[in-house]
Amino acid sequence: MLESAPVSAPVSGKNTLASMAPMEILPIGVSIAPVPPSPPIFPTPHAVSAVRNLLYIAQAPNETLVSYLKNVGWKVSAGTLATQASALKTDAPLAGIVDMASFSARELAALEPALRHQRAGWIALTDDNHLADPVVCHLIRHFCFDFVNGPFSNATIAYLVDHAYGMVSLGDIDLADTPTVFGDEQMVGTCEAMQQLFRTIRKVANTDANVFITGESGTGKELTAVAIHERSPRRKGPFVAINCGAIGNHLIQSELFGYERGAFTGANQRKIGRVEEADGGTLFLDEIGDLPLDSQVHLLRFLQERKIDRLGGHDPIAVDVRIISATHIDLEAAMADGRFRTDLFHRLCVLRVDEPPLRARGKDIEILALHVLHKFRSDGRRKIIGFAPSAIEAMYSYAWTGNVREMINRVRRAIVMAENKLITADDLGLGHCTGIESTTLAAARDAAEKRAIELSLLRHRHKLSEAAAELGISRVTLYRLMVAHGLRGAAMVNGADPG
Ligand SMILES: Nc1ncnc2c1ncn2[C@@H]1O[C@H](COP(=O)(O)OP(=O)(O)OP(=O)(O)O)[C@@H](O)[C@H]1O
Ligand SMILES: [Mg+2]
Repeated sequence: MLESAPVSAPVSGKNTLASMAPMEILPIGVSIAPVPPSPPIFPTPHAVSAVRNLLYIAQAPNETLVSYLKNVGWKVSAGTLATQASALKTDAPLAGIVDMASFSARELAALEPALRHQRAGWIALTDDNHLADPVVCHLIRHFCFDFVNGPFSNATIAYLVDHAYGMVSLGDIDLADTPTVFGDEQMVGTCEAMQQLFRTIRKVANTDANVFITGESGTGKELTAVAIHERSPRRKGPFVAINCGAIGNHLIQSELFGYERGAFTGANQRKIGRVEEADGGTLFLDEIGDLPLDSQVHLLRFLQERKIDRLGGHDPIAVDVRIISATHIDLEAAMADGRFRTDLFHRLCVLRVDEPPLRARGKDIEILALHVLHKFRSDGRRKIIGFAPSAIEAMYSYAWTGNVREMINRVRRAIVMAENKLITADDLGLGHCTGIESTTLAAARDAAEKRAIELSLLRHRHKLSEAAAELGISRVTLYRLMVAHGLRGAAMVNGADPG
C-alpha cells in the first residue's frame, strides 16, 4: 500500500520488480510534473507490440489523472462500471484502476465480477472510511495488486498500473515465445519426444493404414487419435470412439455391430453399431486390450472382410472405416498369455505411435502446467498468476504416474484451493516432493546419475545404444550402471535390447 507518491520511483527503465529501488515518500499534496511517455517496466510481447489498455472505473473519473496516464502512453477508457463493461471483454492483458471511494456499499459488491477478470491487474483507490468496510478489504486482498489510501499523485498511479499490467502479462511470456500447442486439439509439447510425436501424427494421418497407440494412462492417446483423424483425408467423416473396457462382455458385439429388430428379446427396433456409425470416417477402439476374446474374433473377421453382420441380420454390410486403437496395458504380455489374438494385433498395429510419459518430457512439465493454469484460472476465487518455486521443483521431481490427466487435475484443484496468487507445492498436493533433504554429495550425485539414466531410457524407449549415446557413455557402462541402480528390470519389462 502507498500513502502518497514516490519521488524517485523508477516509472521506466527497469525490467523486473526485484531490481527496483525502494520507494521514497513525499508529503501528501506535493505535485509532480508529468513525465514523458516511457517504455513499460515489463517488456512483454503485448506491451511492446500492442496498445496498452487501461480501464479506469469510477463514478466521476479524475480528468487530470486520465490526461496524465494518456500522456505516459496508456490507452485509457474511463467511466462507471455500466459504461465500461465492454472494455472487459478481452483476452489481452489490461491494467485497471478502481476508485472504491466513489462507490456505495451496494455498488461495491457489484464490482467483484469485473475485478475477477483474469487478464486485468487492478489498483484500488480508497480512503480511511472505505478501508474500514470488510467488503472493500475483501475486494482489495483478493483481486487487486495494490491500493492507494487517500490523496495520491498521478506518478504513483502510473507506477502502480505499470506493475499491475506487467504482472498480468507475465504468464504470456512463457507461452508466447514458444510454439507449444499442436493443432486445434491443444496438444502442448516442445520437447524432442513430443516434437517427434507431432511429426509422426502428420505422417500417419496421410495414410489409411490402421494405427495402434500405446502409452501410459493419461498420456494423450485419445487426443492423438483425434489429431490423426482431423488431419486425415477422412476428417469430414465421423470420428467414433468406443471404450472396449467400459462395455460388458455380453453387450460389446451389439454395441460394435448393431442388431436388427427382433434379434433378441427387447430388441424393439434396429440399432446401428459403432462400426457402421463410423462409415467413411475413423473408429477409435480405446482400451482394445480389454476386448473379450469372442469379440476379438468378430473384429478380426470384420478387418479381413470389411463387412459387418448386425445381430439377427442376414446380409453383410460393407463398411469403410479406418481403425485407430489404443491401450495402456502391455499387449505383448497379453498375447503371450493368450488373452489377445496375435493375428488381430498385427491387423490393428500396422503403424505404431508411442506416447511419451509426462516425466520424460523435461521442460514441457512446466509449460503444460502453465497451459492448464491459463485454461482454468477463472475457476478460482482468487487471481492466480503462476507457480511458486516450490511447486516447480515438486513438479519436476514427482513421477506423474497419471501423466497429463493427473497434472490437469492437480492444477485445477490447486487453482481452487490456493490461498495466494502463486500456486505452491502444497496446493498441488506435492508438498512431499520438495525440500532439500540433508544429504552427502556422494548420495546427491548417485541420485542425479540414476535420474539422468532413467529419463534417458524413457526418452529412447529403453534402446540402450541410443540412451548410451545421449549420455556419452558406452553401452556396457550404461548396462553396468543400470544394474547398480536397480534399473535393469525396467529395461527388461519394456523390451529393451540389453546387449
Ligand atoms: N500434450 C497435451 N497437451 C495438453 N493436454 C493434453 C496433452 N495430452 C493429454 N492432454 C489432456 O490430458 C487428458 C488425458 O488425455 P487422453 O484422454 O487423450 O489420454 P489417454 O492416454 O487416452 O488416457 P487413458 O489411458 O486414461 O485413456 C485430456 O484432458 C487431454 O486433453
Ligand atoms: Mg483414453
